[in-house]
Amino acid sequence: MFFILSCKLTWKQSAQVALCVVTACVLLGCRGERIQSSLHAEGPAARSVAQLWWVLFSVLGIYTLAVFGLVAVGILFRDEMSSTSKATTPKQKSSPGWIDRSFLGSNFFGSTRLVVLGGIILPALILVPLLVYSSVATASLRMRDSGLVIQVIGHRWWWEVKYPEQQLESANQLVIPVGEPVRIELTSGDVIHSFWVPQLHGKSDMLPGRTTHSWLLAERPGVYRGQCAEYCGTQHALMAFEVIALPQEQFVDWVNAGGQPLERAEAPPTQRSAGEVAFFRHGCSACHAIAGTAAVGQVGPDLSDLADRRMLAAATLPNTRDNLLAWLRDPQAIKPGAKMPPTEATDEELESIVEFLESLSRKGASSESAQ
Ligand code: CUA
Repeated sequence: MFFILSCKLTWKQSAQVALCVVTACVLLGCRGERIQSSLHAEGPAARSVAQLWWVLFSVLGIYTLAVFGLVAVGILFRDEMSSTSKATTPKQKSSPGWIDRSFLGSNFFGSTRLVVLGGIILPALILVPLLVYSSVATASLRMRDSGLVIQVIGHRWWWEVKYPEQQLESANQLVIPVGEPVRIELTSGDVIHSFWVPQLHGKSDMLPGRTTHSWLLAERPGVYRGQCAEYCGTQHALMAFEVIALPQEQFVDWVNAGGQPLERAEAPPTQRSAGEVAFFRHGCSACHAIAGTAAVGQVGPDLSDLADRRMLAAATLPNTRDNLLAWLRDPQAIKPGAKMPPTEATDEELESIVEFLESLSRKGASSESAQ
């Protein structure tokens, strides 16, 4: 606005510039996907946050426009508003007919009354109700009673996921039942992260050495993307995860499947696949754990159900064979700074490791069912 005023554009030119700016702003917000939009809530907590956002946006938007309008009037008609130059004829021609020149030149704009009205009474009338409303909206985010507990530990730059009662471990993906509040216990293994699933709840900080809490309730089956919301280093932007909400029966099946011993756990070393042998030979087990095997590494994500995950590398890549191969070959090319080093395995070994990793699935568990 101040650019428009300082360029001394005509009213028509000013309107055109303003229209372009507003259109650009609106179009910038256009993206068909709702996968990570806090304005498309799929749970009660996120709905409270979205409603609060709309109320604040509407009220404060109107207030801001009014303030900018008054500033514009002050800039455009400064001479009429100044008692000394009020009588200057050429300037009087610049003000359009709908502006009352005698009002512009009155003492009102320099009076204490205006300061008290605009600086104290009006803000109080607007801010106090907003404060009350936001307190009520925030109260609705309080923890709900829940039977299921999931522990999530933030790491640079991935998410460790544990179901303590069900004795399940996973990474970068939370599976939850639809229509039931799930308690999420949060902590961090290194720096401060923030757990955020925009369509289900607000943000919760994850602090090293401390446990914080949140809860998730999805009203409909689906996939909800989460994102770290606290800057935590180079790959903060690629520290994402997915919440998969399954109907109750499917969730029970998923939990039960996870409890079954995996077939390969019983296989003697001589019957291990070439991929499993290569996995251990190249030291992958030093960082990664796989349930039912000797791989118990804690540095990187648990791989027990890797084949069931929709995404790889903390929701960075879709979980396809080619992406898995590219990731194993050179993780640093995809996520520079990640702790996983490039491998020294041959192409043949890599192919076999990928084949082995693609077999790591919980029976009956399928994220496809959430689609
Ligand atoms: Cu973790 Cu940002």
